[in-house]
Amino acid sequence: MINLIEGIRMIGEVRVRNHLILAAGILGTTGSSLIRIRNSGAGAVVTKSIGPLPKTGHIGPCVIPLPYGLINAMGLPNPSDSFLPEIEKAGSEYVIASIFGGSPEEFRNVASWFRGKVSGLELNLSCPHAEGYGASIGSDPEIVEACTREVKKEGLPVWVKLTPNVTDITECGLAAQKGGADAIVAINTVKAMRISIPLKRPVLGNRYGGLSGPAIFPIALRCVYELYEACNIPIIGCGGISTSEDVIEMMMAGAQAVEIGTAAGKDPGIFKKMSDNLYNKEGIEDREIVGCAHEF
Ligand SMILES: Cc1cc2nc3c(=O)[nH]c(=O)nc-3n(C[C@H](O)[C@H](O)[C@H](O)COP(=O)(O)O)c2cc1C
Repeated sequence: MINLIEGIRMIGEVRVRNHLILAAGILGTTGSSLIRIRNSGAGAVVTKSIGPLPKTGHIGPCVIPLPYGLINAMGLPNPSDSFLPEIEKAGSEYVIASIFGGSPEEFRNVASWFRGKVSGLELNLSCPHAEGYGASIGSDPEIVEACTREVKKEGLPVWVKLTPNVTDITECGLAAQKGGADAIVAINTVKAMRISIPLKRPVLGNRYGGLSGPAIFPIALRCVYELYEACNIPIIGCGGISTSEDVIEMMMAGAQAVEIGTAAGKDPGIFKKMSDNLYNKEGIEDREIVGCAHEF
């Protein structure tokens, strides 16, 4: 097993304590849960996605557990600006706010609520099951660039989270980079569905959802690998990571850090367990491993 050195580092202009970050929408739904996961060894935590207006989300069923992950169609439920007291409870240190909007102006408006309250912003341009938001606008490189550029005007570090549900993810990565993104997060969930045989209809209330968990790890890894070849801003790998070996593979593909979602939902103690496995004082420097799988 390759070991890394734990410690504070800057990833896309955001200070993190180690490489292991809580992904958006999983556990980070209240100030207390953000604090709990931060205290349990995560290098930083990302909130659930917050949008311009309160949203109740899709009708159920919203989640299908599978042996290899889960499919969700939450529909971005969120309390909008009523979430701000939760952020204030958690404090800005190692906290990144995930935000969404339907246009560059909406994105900027939501971003402005978080000035001085968080360490950075993550733009959700990638949710596969929210009409008018997420991937439905984030698969257009021009919109990705415009939203990024607009939010950057608020002066906070900006990470842009991309959808894998496009033919060429590097087009959106390059658009985020052109718009001034400090880092790219790849990937959000993969559009998916299941059908109930007895009911003869889709299982999810929304019919389609997003697949997460170990099933998508090879897709996420491929996206990070392609983005590393095309872009020159930091990449945060996300999608199906559940072991410290997955973290090493992601870094070899080009990620400087990772986000963990489904596996953290299943076991909130994963950050401590992974850190115990991954870190060692005699570990190697990040530069020896990040992107090394491209050098042959
Ligand atoms: C129940 C659930 C809710 C999620 N909510 C959000 C969200 O609010 N914003 C977002 O950008 N991604 C959201 N995601 C996507 C995750 O942050 C992550 O990108 C995806 O699940 C892939 O990582 P994983 O396989 O480690 O879970 C959600 C995923 C799940 C399973």
